[in-house]
Amino acid sequence: MNYIGSKLSLLQFLDDSIASVVGEDYDTFCDLFAGTGIVGSYFKKKGYRIVANDIQYYSYVLNRHYIGNNKELHFFKLADEIPGLKHIELTERRSYVCNYLSNLKGVEGYIYKNYCHGGTENKAVQRQYFSDENGKRTDAIRQIIEHWQERAIVSNDEYYFLLASLIESIDKYANTASVYGAFLKQLKKSAQNTLVLKPADLITSDQNHRVYNADINEIISKIRGDVLYLDPPYNHRQYATNYHLLETIARYDNPKIHGKTGLRDYDRQKSLYCSRPQVKAAFQELILGAKVKYIFLSYNNEGLMTLDDVKQIMSLRGKYGLFTKEYNRFKADRAENRSYKADKTTEYLHYVVCA
Ligand SMILES: C[S@@+](CC[C@H](N)C(=O)[O-])C[C@H]1O[C@@H](n2cnc3c(N)ncnc32)[C@H](O)[C@@H]1O
Repeated sequence: MNYIGSKLSLLQFLDDSIASVVGEDYDTFCDLFAGTGIVGSYFKKKGYRIVANDIQYYSYVLNRHYIGNNKELHFFKLADEIPGLKHIELTERRSYVCNYLSNLKGVEGYIYKNYCHGGTENKAVQRQYFSDENGKRTDAIRQIIEHWQERAIVSNDEYYFLLASLIESIDKYANTASVYGAFLKQLKKSAQNTLVLKPADLITSDQNHRVYNADINEIISKIRGDVLYLDPPYNHRQYATNYHLLETIARYDNPKIHGKTGLRDYDRQKSLYCSRPQVKAAFQELILGAKVKYIFLSYNNEGLMTLDDVKQIMSLRGKYGLFTKEYNRFKADRAENRSYKADKTTEYLHYVVCA
């Protein structure tokens, strides 16, 4: 997924840097600002036990699948719902179920009524985050997933796999420049394509991974591990507002919304890491409360905390060090299509070997 601060292009840098400090002989890797789950997924594939966490529920959904799901999904109890499913090879069933959902007839549900042109044209505020067709398809798919869960004909693992597939897929059809803080006036090309539910990848493993959906400062005291990897927001842009629509699709809780963008209330998801006056105190509390052997922190040169702030706080726990990497960040420009311009930024990986 195209996500602010995604570490997709920095995985090798993270891996090499962490290995040069820790070696490879450790068990538990904690990714507690997990976002898309790409970092935890990478280390899960390397055989480590992962603890993942994020304050956003859509991120929990993604991580609950990518990190929490270890084995092929059977969909045994859907055999009576989906014609032909019981004859399908186990490894093909995730695709088969997604294909069934992709072909459902759309319904005029919450997403269509609040975030699509057809559903809002006679309302006080008009919005066009998705085409009418894709809004209705999203509603149909989301409703049936919930219905299956309520009837207990999908397991929790299957439920989160289906939700993760929907979150990953729908993002590719959003009529936005990059995030959900605004929508485009005209439906751009990719938003005109018909939503196809692509099955989220499954990473098999025999480790017992854990996934949480909490404010990191509230759970840090309960977590034990060898390596703690921290990738907090760098600036004042809250993820809760930039990805509010993914949150609503994940929860599907008919929230009260307001304003031009149809924002849901996010009081309980406001991150202290996006607040200049509060970030240092929150970060210090986190660092002092971590029960791990090594802490690594990704931060860039444009963050709310300075290099010195971070160094001073992390040094409270032991021997401090720093890796740097210049890389091309791709930034959505203001034009009303997703054209990107590259600009260079320096990514820091701070670490401390805890005494
Ligand atoms: C830079 S992104 C992480 C990106 C992730 N490493 C990836 O590659 O996809 C920061 C994440 O921190 C989460 N976050 C912000 N404040 C948080 C808090 N107090 N507790 C837990 N998660 C938080 C955001 O929801 C967001 O997903």
